[in-house]
Amino acid sequence: MSAPRPALAVEDLTVGYPGPEGPVRAVDGVCLHIEPGDALVLLGESGSGKTTVARAVLGLPGRGARTGGRIRLGDTDLRTLDERSLARVRGRRIGYVPQDPTGSLDPLRRIGPQLTEVLLRHRVAPGRRAARAAVPGILATAGIPDPERIAGSYPHELSGGLRQRAAIALAVCCGPDLLIADEPTTALDALVRGQVLDLFGALRGEHGIALLLVTHDLSVARRTGGRVAVMRDGRIVETGPAGQVLSRPGHAFTAGLLTARPGELR
Ligand SMILES: Nc1ncnc2c1ncn2[C@@H]1O[C@H](COP(=O)(O)OP(=O)(O)O)[C@@H](O)[C@H]1O
Ligand SMILES: [Mg+2]
Repeated sequence: MSAPRPALAVEDLTVGYPGPEGPVRAVDGVCLHIEPGDALVLLGESGSGKTTVARAVLGLPGRGARTGGRIRLGDTDLRTLDERSLARVRGRRIGYVPQDPTGSLDPLRRIGPQLTEVLLRHRVAPGRRAARAAVPGILATAGIPDPERIAGSYPHELSGGLRQRAAIALAVCCGPDLLIADEPTTALDALVRGQVLDLFGALRGEHGIALLLVTHDLSVARRTGGRVAVMRDGRIVETGPAGQVLSRPGHAFTAGLLTARPGELR
């Protein structure tokens, strides 16, 4: 039997941004693999290049960015796709959860219609009636109680935790292979943070979604589990199972981070 194909395989990714004295390499030779249902936590200080990696995988590099390397989603080579095909992959095969749910939720529309629009855009539902009927189940998948009421609510009517759950529902409603979450719990208090991280665990376990989670927060990395890749200055300096990297870091840099600031990285 052949080895399972990774949900995401990134090889030798480089991203350069234009700078006043020539291109600045924000990401330099990054390799990542995530198996279906697995989690990879990209952990590092602010400015180490985590978001740049996430956006490169989404096919949304910053203005003027130069990207090199290979990015494969299952059998699809994302680097060869044109913008239209990439737009079809985003939302359908890759879900994205930003730090602040207001980044993905439209403040002027109720939650339900936002979900039906995504289902229809990606042709996951055959028609409006079927899309509407699917909404409560999708909200329940994201751990939202009373889905009928929430579907009829505007984002500002929800608590921060429910808003982030609604944003996660939007990201997973088309059944993606990969979910990318960039500092998804930074705006939440500790209790809700734990609940949202548990939700990611359930989505991995029950739906086989691969998770790429970006964070500067050591406690978030611990709670997420899976594997950890530590980034510094655009490179991965250490990678391995979370338990191993976070308790017995092999790299001096990771060890320094752990002893300098127990609990959290900045
Ligand atoms: N659009 C951009 N243009 C120029 N430089 C950028 C841009 N986005 C990020 N950078 C630079 O790239 C580096 C990595 O940034 P980022 O990926 O946002 O790090 P992190 O998410 O780990 O905080 C930083 O030095 C940042 O200033
Ligand atoms: Mg970032």
